[in-house]
Amino acid sequence: MSEIILGIESSCDDTSAAVIRDGVLLSNVIASQSVHENYGGVVPELASRAHQQNIVPVVSEAIRLAGIDKNDISAIAFTRGPGLLGSLLVGTSFAKGLSIALRAPLIDVNHLHGHVLSHFIKEKPEDETPSFPFICLLISGGNSQIVLVKSPFEMEILGQTIDDAAGEAFDKCAKVMGLPYPGGPHIDRLAAEGDPSAFKFSKPNIPGLDYSFSGLKTSFLYTLRDNLKKDPEFIEKNRADLAASLQKTIIDILLSKLEKAVSQHPVKELAIGGGVSANSGVRKAIEEFCRDKGIRAWIPPRKFTTDNAAMVAIAGMFAYRDGQRASLDLPPYARVTI
Ligand code: KG4
Repeated sequence: MSEIILGIESSCDDTSAAVIRDGVLLSNVIASQSVHENYGGVVPELASRAHQQNIVPVVSEAIRLAGIDKNDISAIAFTRGPGLLGSLLVGTSFAKGLSIALRAPLIDVNHLHGHVLSHFIKEKPEDETPSFPFICLLISGGNSQIVLVKSPFEMEILGQTIDDAAGEAFDKCAKVMGLPYPGGPHIDRLAAEGDPSAFKFSKPNIPGLDYSFSGLKTSFLYTLRDNLKKDPEFIEKNRADLAASLQKTIIDILLSKLEKAVSQHPVKELAIGGGVSANSGVRKAIEEFCRDKGIRAWIPPRKFTTDNAAMVAIAGMFAYRDGQRASLDLPPYARVTI
């Protein structure tokens, strides 16, 4: 009898469902919500309503593409948090209803564990996966953390941001440059044509392994303000150089703490995860960093960097094999760390 895990993700603005059979991904359906584009950020109430509309077709499609019978599902894993409460409620309630209907056990998944464990998603049975312990740099729109991953359930935060996340630095600076939301991918694209040493932005001086990105944001704003006074077309003329210099500064900040982390906690493997790990400059810098240090680098395929249910299903698979089950009265939670 196969072990079939259905994963459901609805923490922010992507409704997603995935099916994993015996550790191998059979389907991963994601419905992204374009409704937020006009607002420069995710509008929670609109996100909840879109999840409500998407959840049934998305789950049905994931089951259809996987070619399984829904009655053969061994367990249903859902994102319990962190995220937007209204959005989480849709996935959580749907997972509970389906669990009752199919008499399949429920498993709650911490979204952040999902990002870390996304490296264990196998698209083919022979795909390799990391060995524990490893360090994971988790960089998304809401988090910037260095995590020591000892097992699928034992994760220690070595350092994290004390203010903005790396993704927020990308998005907020992109916004003042007049780029659409989310700005990270636009900065990535522009940076490829710019000079990363054209502008200097301030870097934080925080002790230990914690990050800070709000000073960089302020310094970026001041650069724009001062130069716009002299030349109203400053942004248009310098788009690529601004993007490249911003991206380079974010990468330098990320790597400086990672350098400290691997010297304090020597590991043989290092992974990255979360939306910002899709960034071309970050991916290249991490590969070089690991090559220099003789550490194996795990760079996720881009489709597994942003929110997806495959990572929820894989985290659910580990929990299922460990005998963990969630009760039907478990509420979602908006805030939680690893
Ligand atoms: O993990 P994620 O999908 O969800 C949240 O935490 O919300 O991360 C979203 C973040 C956004 O800040 C977005 O701008 C950033 O990931 N991002 C990128 C790139 N692709 C997504 N940042 C820089 N370069 C990219 N290519």
